[in-house]
Parts: sequence; C-alpha cells; structure tokens
Amino acid sequence: MSTPYTDEMMESVKKVEATRASRIGAELRRMTAQEKDELLEAFHPDYNYDSFETITVGPNKGEKAPKELVNLLQADSRIKNLNIDLSNPKYDVDVLVIGGGGAGSSAAIEANEGGADVMIVTKLRIGDANTMMAEGGIQAADKENDSPRQHYLDVMGGGHFANVPELVKKLVTEGPAAVNWLDKLGVLFDKDENGNMITTHGGGTSRKRMHAAADYSGAEIMRVLRDEVFNRGIPVVDFTAAIELIKDSEGKAAGAVLKNMETGEIMVARAKTVIIATGGAGRLHYQGFPTSNHYGATADGLVLAYRAGARLLYQDTLQYHPTGVAFPAQIYGALVTEKVRSMGAQFCNKDGIAFMNPLETRDVAASGVIRECKERGNGVKTPLGEGIWLDSPMIDMIHGEGTLEKRLPGMLRMFLRYGIDMRKVPIVIYPTLHYQNGGIRITQDGMSDIENLYVAGEAVGGIHGRNRLMGNSLLDIIVFGRNAGQQASKKCKEVTLGELTLSHVDAFAKECADAGIESSLVSPQILPDYRRKDM
Ligand code: FUM
Repeated sequence: MSTPYTDEMMESVKKVEATRASRIGAELRRMTAQEKDELLEAFHPDYNYDSFETITVGPNKGEKAPKELVNLLQADSRIKNLNIDLSNPKYDVDVLVIGGGGAGSSAAIEANEGGADVMIVTKLRIGDANTMMAEGGIQAADKENDSPRQHYLDVMGGGHFANVPELVKKLVTEGPAAVNWLDKLGVLFDKDENGNMITTHGGGTSRKRMHAAADYSGAEIMRVLRDEVFNRGIPVVDFTAAIELIKDSEGKAAGAVLKNMETGEIMVARAKTVIIATGGAGRLHYQGFPTSNHYGATADGLVLAYRAGARLLYQDTLQYHPTGVAFPAQIYGALVTEKVRSMGAQFCNKDGIAFMNPLETRDVAASGVIRECKERGNGVKTPLGEGIWLDSPMIDMIHGEGTLEKRLPGMLRMFLRYGIDMRKVPIVIYPTLHYQNGGIRITQDGMSDIENLYVAGEAVGGIHGRNRLMGNSLLDIIVFGRNAGQQASKKCKEVTLGELTLSHVDAFAKECADAGIESSLVSPQILPDYRRKDM
C-alpha cells in the first residue's frame, strides 16, 4: 500500500523511529501548576479573547460567549411572524424529551420506567448524536483501588475547581451504578477472561477507571439504549426539530413548538415536563476549528432555554480535543481517541522529540500541541497545514503485537482506508473542537431555572467546570439522563398545566429590539451551513 505521506513527512517519520526505543518506558515529566496556567493563557483558544463577545440580553447579559453562540442566542426566532395555534396540540404527553442521543434516551427509558407517558423528538434520527461518536470510554470508580472520592478530586482538578460541587458529587457517586446499569442492559464492555472490566487511564485520572468497548464505546452504548427505547415502545418522532419552548400561564415549561424537517410542518407538543437533551455545539466551528462532533451539534438547546429565561453557566469554555486528525483531508478533524495515548502513544514533534507527557488534561495537552507548532515551529508540515505526530506504533511495542488491532479497531480501520497503517507509522494530529464545557445551569435534580424544564447531557453547564476529563461525558449522559427522566416522571404526576403561551418569545424579541440588536440570523440553527460563501 502506498503511503499518502509526503517525502518530507517520511523523513520526519525516520526521526520518530530513531528515538522510539529510548522513549519506551521513559516517564515524561508532568507540568507544574504554574507551567500549565501559563501555557493555557498563551495558547488555549478559550483565552483568545477576540473570538468572544458580550451577551447583551437575557439572563447572562454582560457575560462573554463565543461570537457564534452570541449571534444565535440573540437571533430572530424561527416562529417570528408565524401564527401558532396552541389550543390544539398534535402531541400531548407527560414528558417530552428533546434529543435522541445517550442522555435523551436514558431519560426516556427512566421516565417510562417511572410510569410516565414519554415521547422523544429528534431533528435527525435517534442515535444521531455525539454519544455515537464517543470512542475511548466511560469513567466509573468501581475498582478496589479507587473510590468516588478519588474520582471527585480528579474531576474537580481537571475542571480547574470551577465545577458545581453537588453535580460532581452526583456524577461520581452514581458512576458505578451507571456502568452496572449499562452492563446489565447489554453493553459489551471490554472484559478479561474472568469477566472483570478492563480499565485504563485517561488524561488527568489518578486511577485506571475508563471502561470501554474497544474504541467505539459510545456507539455500543447508543446501540443498547436505542434498542431499549424501541423495546419499551417509547414513541420517537424523528426528523422533527424543537424550535421554541412553550410555557404555561405560570411561566412553567409546558411543551415545544416542533418543525418537521422534511415537510416544514409546524406542530405543537404539549407536555407536563420537558427535558432538553440536545447535545453540543461543535458544528458551530468556533474559531474556525474542525470538529469531532456529529452533524447536528449546533447548540439548539442553549438557544431554546435561554430565550425562555434559563441561565447558562460557563458558556465561554469549550473543549478542543488534543488529537483530532490533521491528515488526510477525508477525515480532517475526526477524533483520535485519547485511548491511543492511554495505551502508550506519545506526542512527537518533527524531530522525533516527545515534548510533553501525553496524559496531561485535555486543555493542557491541546495547548501544548498548539505551542509546539505555532511558537516553537516544530510542527510536522502536511499538505493541509501542520500537526504533531502521535506515535501509535509504540502501542504494539509496549503491549505486544495485535494489541492495537484488538483494542483500537475503529482507529486502525479509519486510517487504513486512506493508506496509513498506524501500527507501522505515526499519525498526524492537531486539536479539534470536541465538547461544550458550558451549558444550561441545573440543580442536582436536573431542573433548569425554569420550573419543569430539565436538562441532561452536553447541554448542561457546570458538571465539568472549565475542562472535562475523558470518559466523564459518557458518564454524565447516563447519570444525569437517568436522573432527569426519573425526576420528570415523578414531577409530572403533580403538574396541572395552565394555558399555553409563547409570550416569552415575544418578550425576548422586544428585549433584543430595545438593545438595538438587528440580526440577520434565525435560531436555533438546527443544521450546520456548509454552503460556499464565495459563490
Ligand atoms: O478521546 C476520546 O475517546 C474521547 C472521549 C471523551 O470525550 O470522553
């Protein structure tokens, strides 16, 4: 098979090979807290202040957010000038779940378990979600040498102690039960010959607590959750986007305005409780970064909740995964799971020097990669730009031949398709937009600032502070997804809805107009816009 690497890249590969034997087994120094702070401030995209703007209306008025998000929060409503009849809803349910990923599905399963009449609406199909794209695994402190307390410290440290403590407590204490729940539902986790879960480290973890299903952990979890939703007969209305929340006369969440993505039909769903589980924002391509996210990751839930009056938390912090594919073009920006580094692969610059410990937390690792390229000029030049080597052949050298194929089959196949055998040559990576650290503020019971509006999954802000650790997202969608479903199914039993209203949408539009905002956009965005702007 001929390699797509240029001659210059292959010359650099030789330098990586030349240092490899001496690097195996060598401990790479961890940065000090001060070194990390300086690195982040100088190179992390969250500190690129020019790319942020001040929000001028709504609950977070005066705070910063990425420009693209501010533009959507303050855009026109998709129902502007529409006459919507709220008196005759097409759907009338106890619990309306918006979003068909891991959090939404877990919520729907638990709401159904709690006896509620629950329905999922999703703008694409159930499973078209970042859950499906998750690779490396799910954290849970269920080994003898570990504890939720230890996990808690790792999460708080990784998040720069900005995390909401009670949410972290819930995440880590319910972690083992969450993994057990998935195991019992049928998720095929990696296990040893005695049936014990195989666990590995992630960046910033003090214990090996990453449970995986090879390198397609999210897809495996989503497969099982989707089956469970279908087996329970939970209705799923797909290709249907929520475009505004509906409230009742007391200001409580009471449903959503829906739009059929194929016919454009506008419909009303009335609900005693609503759960937003709409996921992340990678497809907004903040600061021009490529993304590892699925096609529908456009921050819709944040827009819906914000217009209805819910506060956001840490909307100014994003996660750039250190190892997005930097070459070849066909998979540019796709995720190279952290598990590749967990299993021993090191970062190497163009001269074959391992310049940084590969398991620093993600924000630090991403900043280190950016610095090595932009400041130190040590990036590997590719036909697309530049990146850093991730020395994947180390994995088989450390763990034995065949390990990479067994434990990272998805990665191997992804690169082989384009003529790169990562067992033999290193791969080129650069940070890719991966996760929305911030989102809608919730309490421990999953409720937002709006009564009867719950939130779960990546749309939540606060669990991970200002930087999430690997494997805590798959964990949070299960813990907080299940929690939202349980709470909503309990709550709906005591809800009597008042008259439905969309007056909050008009009030928000007035606030924008009074602030002099004239937007050419409508939101939520629903799908990314990849049309060429120069034609
Ligand atoms: O690197 C990864 O496999 C990603 C995991 C995560 O974001 O939790």
